[in-house]
Amino acid sequence: MNIFYMTSEASPFIKTGGLADVSGSLPKEFKKKGHEISVVLPLYGQIPFEYKEQMEYLGYYFVDLDWRRQYAGVFKINYDGVNFYFIDNEFYFKRQSLYGQGDDGERFIFYSKACVQLLRFLDVKLDIVNANDWHTGLVPLYIKDFARGDDFYSKIKTAYTIHNIKYQGIFPKDIMSITGLSMDYYNEDGLKYYDGINMMKAGIVYCDLLTTVSKTYANEITYPYFGEGLDGIIRKNKHKLVGIINGIDYDKYNPKKDPLIPYNYSADDLTSKAKNKTDIQKLFNLPVNENIPMFAMVTRLVDLKGIDLLDFIISELMEEDIQLVILGTGDRRYEDMLRFYERCFPNKLAARIYFDEAQSHKIYAGADFYLMPSIAEPCGISQLIAMRYGTLPIVRETGGLRDTVEPYNKYTKEGTGFSFSNINAHELLFTIKDAINLYRNKEDLDTLIKSAMTRDFSWDVSCDEYLENYKKVLKNKF
Ligand code: GLC
Repeated sequence: MNIFYMTSEASPFIKTGGLADVSGSLPKEFKKKGHEISVVLPLYGQIPFEYKEQMEYLGYYFVDLDWRRQYAGVFKINYDGVNFYFIDNEFYFKRQSLYGQGDDGERFIFYSKACVQLLRFLDVKLDIVNANDWHTGLVPLYIKDFARGDDFYSKIKTAYTIHNIKYQGIFPKDIMSITGLSMDYYNEDGLKYYDGINMMKAGIVYCDLLTTVSKTYANEITYPYFGEGLDGIIRKNKHKLVGIINGIDYDKYNPKKDPLIPYNYSADDLTSKAKNKTDIQKLFNLPVNENIPMFAMVTRLVDLKGIDLLDFIISELMEEDIQLVILGTGDRRYEDMLRFYERCFPNKLAARIYFDEAQSHKIYAGADFYLMPSIAEPCGISQLIAMRYGTLPIVRETGGLRDTVEPYNKYTKEGTGFSFSNINAHELLFTIKDAINLYRNKEDLDTLIKSAMTRDFSWDVSCDEYLENYKKVLKNKF
């Protein structure tokens, strides 16, 4: 198969969230399985020079946006066997931040249209285009629209993946003129959303195959509580919806070989894991003692991640003999809150309000437990990384967390972590206390760590699921 993957971020070139992890690792698996795969990205100013330097310039074309003709340059790199194409336009992509600019609507209309025109420019024979999240939500629509005047597009099938339904790309109606699309698409079954347009809705409506990143989330978003206003349209399109759980990059996240952690280890020999813990304690100015259970969070500090639950119970939690390490940035109120708590509990809590890749690996390796009390979590990637490093996740049973963490069963000793079901701070606290109890029982703890470490969270199986569904789409089976 020849697959094009349209996305707004991909590791290692540019990353703000989990979408970049997926766009950077799933394509490699397609390649491994013998398929042709290309990833398309905007050429952001923030992409490091070491990559820009290696890019080959292929040419340019113009994208019509209302009365303006905008330049779209095309650059290419082959990275790990995957073709990466970059759309160049400095007016749109040389900005302070990737998202949150006043003209985001226009920027990503340009990008979506440029992605679709790129296929013609390259003049390749392809089977599937997989677009992702709101930034490329118009891709399936443009493909359908272009097919009306150009046979090249009529053979292409489209898949659309929702990584998080909370961010939809909603813009005022006026922006329709920039899209260049007919007002025929502006209706309740199309682009229209209240008095504006919704780019994610366009992806949902006009794709041939709709996917999201876990089975539980696929079900959750059919209900108003999780659907963020799109549950109705999801229910209408349920016949083409499948949930496929994300995997992680097994080369990058491998405690046996990871060059970013000071002491490598494996499920057969966990002795070095404790050394990684003392290393973190030194790094973060916490008392050095390998027998204190260490809890960790590496996260964006936003409400969906359940930071408020932690807020409610922090003083009770800090009565326990534990350490808590947090790494990440986000909403100002959570950043300030954590800085404050660090001052209150300097011997127990280390809040590092920044992001650092190397430190994140050290934390995954050194901590004993990983907290993820998310309010909603389409898939979640860090719980998978945590398990791979033998750091037991404590999660709320939602979305991908529910699908990937098997809660500890104290009778059979089975499981790969801990979980609780309600958005209730004391449920979180009591679950943490269960974990502390288990920590005192080394034998059972090791059994659990080993079973977490030996679960398969690679892309192998999930990639096959994408391929099977692509095949079904090519045969018009939805
Ligand atoms: C988003 C979701 C996260 C998911 C990731 C990749 O960041 O919030 O749950 O793992 O996308 O699909």
